[in-house]
Amino acid sequence: MVQLPTTFTWGAATASFQIEGDRAGRGETVWDAFCRVPGAVSDGTDGDVTCDHVHRYAEDVRILSDLGVDAYRFSVAWARVQPTGRGDFSADGLGFYDRLVDELLGAGIEPWLTLYHWDLPLELQHLGGWASRRTVDAYVEYALGVQDALGDRVKRWATHNEPWCAAWLGYGAGIHAPGVRDHALATRATHHLLLSHGRAVAAMREVDPDAAYGIVLNLDHGRAVDGEQVTLDAVRHRDGVRNRVWLDALAGRGYPADTVELLHPHLDGAVAEGDMEQIATPVDFIGLNYYNDALLEAADGRTPTADLLQPGLELVRDADPGEGATAMGWPVTPSGFTDIIRRTLTEYPELGPLYVTENGSAWDDDATPAEDGVIEDTPRVGYLHAHLEALAAARAEGLDVRGYFAWSLLDNFEWALGLSKRFGLVRVDFETQQRTVKRSWQAYRDAIAADKASA
Ligand code: NOJ
Repeated sequence: MVQLPTTFTWGAATASFQIEGDRAGRGETVWDAFCRVPGAVSDGTDGDVTCDHVHRYAEDVRILSDLGVDAYRFSVAWARVQPTGRGDFSADGLGFYDRLVDELLGAGIEPWLTLYHWDLPLELQHLGGWASRRTVDAYVEYALGVQDALGDRVKRWATHNEPWCAAWLGYGAGIHAPGVRDHALATRATHHLLLSHGRAVAAMREVDPDAAYGIVLNLDHGRAVDGEQVTLDAVRHRDGVRNRVWLDALAGRGYPADTVELLHPHLDGAVAEGDMEQIATPVDFIGLNYYNDALLEAADGRTPTADLLQPGLELVRDADPGEGATAMGWPVTPSGFTDIIRRTLTEYPELGPLYVTENGSAWDDDATPAEDGVIEDTPRVGYLHAHLEALAAARAEGLDVRGYFAWSLLDNFEWALGLSKRFGLVRVDFETQQRTVKRSWQAYRDAIAADKASA
């Protein structure tokens, strides 16, 4: 019997700063600087070594291959290939990604490359970072340089990963690098991240019209806990900054009027003629990262317009941990997964098809393996199965979701929480760099195999 190829893509995801290490092989980034700020990273760790992936990528690709994935989503560290973010590219830095891509293709795994997963070259931050329009020009040059080096083999490109986090956690709340707390700068960063996306897609497509280009968003499924007007307003405001600003602009609808009202006057002067058209450069796919939804309730005595930083978070709270909480304190809410896939594809069909570019959970895993050498991580297996079921429900509804990438292949550097939170399907001992598969890795391997067998 001839096996028909399945169009569904199964994968696993990582990001450069979180796994690569080899600090000496790249330029400084905003995250290196942020890690040095006392208290910024809760366990005091940094990105100098993490999973030492630069030296162990071949082993990691073998683990991916044994897992049976079709694709691997990774990001390029801008400062590894262009140490100061501008000017000359580093042959050594590009050489690493060259070897990684070849290793993946040799194993029959398709490379899905994310150009920006938060590790901005520090020198660009000295020039204003994402709050400055100059970073947009630098980014387009960087994107074209990476495409020039790898575009003969890489055909799936994501411009940005979770730009809401880059803008609002980095420049608004200050809990991510560069640690700035300024709503005007966060608003400008929002616009510049979007603009850099659109301009890079247009420029790269001109070079290679056959490749697929998209962006990865962490869309928020926030539900109102009651029908009170104050709650509904707060939820809508949160939805504006977290979801609609990005989705509407990408879909060519401009920035939503109610959100512009909130962001005004910070947007004034930032949007130049032609920007919105460039942002709306058509995408070939939309990437969705999903971890949990939120049940929201307006905080007492607040009016929904009081806060510009992700209007909502200070106005509303996670009212209910749902079916339990992960080591991050995040509720386990698989039904929200189906809902947000449905909403995205129904309200923004022009951005589809959709790929789930991240989904996963952190738990306090045992360090010692079971007798068969595998780490028992029952809660992560439960989370995985529940979310694969929610995904299957979306597919069964006929929604155009074409792939799923588990976050993450390896335990890694979880940003402001350092090495303390483990999201991996594979345990990493950060002392010895030993990799040990977890029960969830086996569960995912089996789920992929079962889906392929039934296709
Ligand atoms: C999404 C981010 O893209 C990733 O870097 C992070 O580790 C996960 N969320 C978990 O917080």
